[in-house]
Amino acid sequence: MNKIINILKEQKSLPLDQFIDVALYNKKFGYYMKKNPFGKEGDYITSPLISNLFGEMIAVWCISFWENLGKPDKIVIAELGPGDSSLCNNLIATFKNFTDFYNCFEIKLLEKSTKLRKIQKGKIKSKKVKWIKNIDELDYGPIIFVANEFFDSLPIKQIYKKKKLFFERHVTLSKNNKKIEFLNKKAKKNLVKSIKDLNLISHGNIIEYPKESIKYLKKISKKILKYDGGLLTFDYGYIDQKNRDTLQSVKKHKHLNIFSDPGNADITSHINYKLFYEFLTKSNLQLEKIITQSEFLQKLGIIERANILSKKMSFKGKADMFFRLKKLLDHKEMGSLFKVLFAKKKGNKFSLGFK
Ligand SMILES: C[S@@+](CC[C@H](N)C(=O)[O-])C[C@H]1O[C@@H](n2cnc3c(N)ncnc32)[C@H](O)[C@@H]1O
Repeated sequence: MNKIINILKEQKSLPLDQFIDVALYNKKFGYYMKKNPFGKEGDYITSPLISNLFGEMIAVWCISFWENLGKPDKIVIAELGPGDSSLCNNLIATFKNFTDFYNCFEIKLLEKSTKLRKIQKGKIKSKKVKWIKNIDELDYGPIIFVANEFFDSLPIKQIYKKKKLFFERHVTLSKNNKKIEFLNKKAKKNLVKSIKDLNLISHGNIIEYPKESIKYLKKISKKILKYDGGLLTFDYGYIDQKNRDTLQSVKKHKHLNIFSDPGNADITSHINYKLFYEFLTKSNLQLEKIITQSEFLQKLGIIERANILSKKMSFKGKADMFFRLKKLLDHKEMGSLFKVLFAKKKGNKFSLGFK
């Protein structure tokens, strides 16, 4: 916290997205640069860590998509933000059961945190996995991009709209230099143009602009158009069009103010799915209807798979597996808040899990 205060003393103020980037990824004290945040003992838990069945379903989905693409000799699974590598390891474990596919795939991992990259390298034993620093490095395909809680973890900008004027939200220090607070500064013309171009100005007076996500979606679309393949994402977010103030911070499984403990707590926001859908469609990709995580996993047969597995399990094992499944599927837990987006090349008819 003190280190962030020192940066703010030096810089006077930072646009919100830069502040989030410093709080999460500053080389010395950024949240993701110094700790493994996942799990019961950490700050939050994600679907791949809750149940191996999550990764197993995605693996089967990837193999079906590969079949739909005509079983190409080479295919890339590019995982964005692989965290503690649970999903990657679950994918590989399932791929091992499908020899034809196993001979064709390579996994590429894009990870910004040096700390997490180190953890991933320690936990992933397969030679079929390589790390990349930039999406531009992907030079063959088809490419299936897979991302769980990647986009909701990217820094966003917030714009405050008052009457017809636009202000960018910056972060600064209070007069006594002890507290961190927001400061509204007149938005630059190109920022206003960007949010107008993205159709973001019609609702509410706090506009969230996921500039970093848009940058990634642009790059991903280009790769899919060039090499074929698709993008499958899981994030929390909303589908109705209203803009919302969704910035949040989490530490030890509890929400806190984003300025309470920067550097020691995660900062995230919700995805505006209407924006993602429109942007990807304009980028010439075709999308399936965005659905909930619960619908997607159930259509893939996660419950049937659990029932089969449960036949050989102890009572305790069964209870644990179904307890975890409930977390993934229940509408009061992760089932509805988490949505699944699938974008692919136009004309492709693959829609497993969505219809
Ligand atoms: C919320 S965690 C999700 C981790 C994992 N996918 C899971 O579900 O357990 C976000 C992940 O994305 C990574 N990340 C965030 N921004 C990134 C970026 N710009 N480039 C690459 N990785 C990034 C984080 O370091 C972390 O591994």
